[in-house]
Amino acid sequence: MTPGVTVHVVPDAPALADAAAEWLAQRIARTPALTVLVATGQTPMGMYAQLAERVRAGTLDCSGVTAVQLDEYAGLPEGDPRSLRAWMLRSFVTPLGVQTVVPLLDPAAFTGRLAALGGLDVAVLGLGPNGHVGFNEPPSGPDAPTREVALTPESLRSNAAYWSGLTVPTRAVTAGMDVILGARETLLLVSGAHKCAILSEALDGPETPLVPASFLRRTALTVLADRDARP
Ligand code: PGA
Repeated sequence: MTPGVTVHVVPDAPALADAAAEWLAQRIARTPALTVLVATGQTPMGMYAQLAERVRAGTLDCSGVTAVQLDEYAGLPEGDPRSLRAWMLRSFVTPLGVQTVVPLLDPAAFTGRLAALGGLDVAVLGLGPNGHVGFNEPPSGPDAPTREVALTPESLRSNAAYWSGLTVPTRAVTAGMDVILGARETLLLVSGAHKCAILSEALDGPETPLVPASFLRRTALTVLADRDARP
């Protein structure tokens, strides 16, 4: 795949979910054993629900897909409701009938397993309000490896919305920028006016570790944004 950026602007979040589901469904139809890096967060949830609908209707088969975990909070006890792996399982893996999961706990084991799989076919990503991808918090350069990180106050604040009444863990493990930028294709989903300024920095500003998402332009990148995020 030749690097290059395509930006599609759609009217609203439901249209974003439709377009994103269609994008991934086409790739799974072409390559049933697709290896997909799977973001959690609110933005891709509509997309995953649309894909689950297709699986239920019998028009899409995801049983050959490998789901690769993008990030996880560090030090959570087994069964903790804040686990991002649990979120990935309930929003993507289980409803889509995906059989194979590459979890992210130990960076070395994760990196080895991904290498054995031949790397990522597709990375599905959201955009952090501070420009992070996964938990590659600013500053993260393009070679940043899979590692444990401290979350920035901004990420702690924005993630608090997911876990009402629970604190947000302060450390996480993230797939590295090197893993993410190695994907053969990347889909970046961006919704809402609160992402407009950072999306513009990521697409129109200089490539900089201060906006880790700016390095996605080095990949074969499809950006799907709604009009609030990309007027
Ligand atoms: P969101 O999270 O999809 O919930 O906005 C994106 C992110 O912080 O990476």
